[in-house]
Amino acid sequence: MSEPAAGRETVMCVVGARPNFMKMAPILAAFRSHDPPLPAILVHTGQHYDADMNDRIFQDLGLPSPDVNLGVGSGSHTVQTAEVMRRFEPLLDQHRPACVLVVGDVNSTLACSLVAVKKGVRVVHVEAGLRSFDRAMPEEINRLLTDQIADRLYTTERRAHDNLAREGIAAERMCFVGNVMIDSLLTHRGKAPDAKATLAANGVDPGLLGDGAYGVVTLHRPANVDRADTLAGLFDTLSQAARRLPLVFAMHPRTRGNAERFGLLSRLAEGRVILLPPQGYLQMLGLVAGAALVLTDSGGLQEETTALGIPCITLRENTERPITVEAGTNTLVGRNQSLALSCVDDVLAGGGRRGRVPEYWDGRAAVRIAADLATWLRA
Ligand code: UD1
Repeated sequence: MSEPAAGRETVMCVVGARPNFMKMAPILAAFRSHDPPLPAILVHTGQHYDADMNDRIFQDLGLPSPDVNLGVGSGSHTVQTAEVMRRFEPLLDQHRPACVLVVGDVNSTLACSLVAVKKGVRVVHVEAGLRSFDRAMPEEINRLLTDQIADRLYTTERRAHDNLAREGIAAERMCFVGNVMIDSLLTHRGKAPDAKATLAANGVDPGLLGDGAYGVVTLHRPANVDRADTLAGLFDTLSQAARRLPLVFAMHPRTRGNAERFGLLSRLAEGRVILLPPQGYLQMLGLVAGAALVLTDSGGLQEETTALGIPCITLRENTERPITVEAGTNTLVGRNQSLALSCVDDVLAGGGRRGRVPEYWDGRAAVRIAADLATWLRA
């Protein structure tokens, strides 16, 4: 964005980490096409900074370059959160926006919300009310606290309203709009390269995929990847699954770092799992759209597979996105290897969950947000 808008009308939009980018892109597009346009400033906290985790995804989504990058980088959760807060405060003082809009549940989401509420600036949270009920997940704490201090809460599924009501949040603050991440998926799906092209672009022989079904893997949750025994068990499950169909694993830097440290990477190679670095948005979308199944611990992929009607085998005990299990294609298997493998066998035998696309996951969630926000800011 070349000319940062500023002042009382402006919405200060915050992104920090990869899963924020696909949520923010349609919101900014909807702000631009709203009549009259809603002025916005895009702030990147710099939580994710690698080209693979950041620049490529910005390009793929057509996201404007951030007006401001706070450049916080990695650190412990405390250091990262505190550093975002410290650097965000002067920016708020400088711009005095009408509100701060945050998405999702990463550390940057909570950090900027906290600064805003303490400065008397209204907070708008997109993807509010999701709960895993697992307080060991850093994201669960970020969700709970952000929702408590948010003034306007946009939700992706109706169950979120029950969660918020239980926590004492007034119904007037909530608005069911649907899923902005699915807006991005529907906008970009036609441009996504197929899996063979992506393998070739990564210098991997596309012939490894064969001509039949393949699966896609992602894994990055601290509970799954930070302990050697847990990660070894999951890698073993993946190696077993890879005997049934080729698996493409786009590996998060956290997972790669730990796998290298624990000396586990070779196990995947022996299991013939195809390893790739983190992929761009379009590459990942193309990989997933062509897959027979997805094995993951990502929140976003549980939703994207539901929207695409592709069976998702989630390597977690719980999900904050229950609609993907109730209505969609998602099955929770935790770290239960036999359950995971029987789900894979089921899909390969022609079974697997097909599900239905949830209400308002229709590509217009961001337009609903822009319309509501314009009215709310005027009121
Ligand atoms: C963060 C989010 C998580 C989200 C995930 C998607 C929180 C609490 N977690 O987790 O909800 O699903 O992003 O990726 O905010 N690293 C790099 N390059 C980068 C970014 C990270 O090498 O560009 C490495 C660093 O070693 C870093 C580690 O990955 O310490 C973890 O990064 P961090 O942003 O702290 O959390 P994620 O695990 O990515």
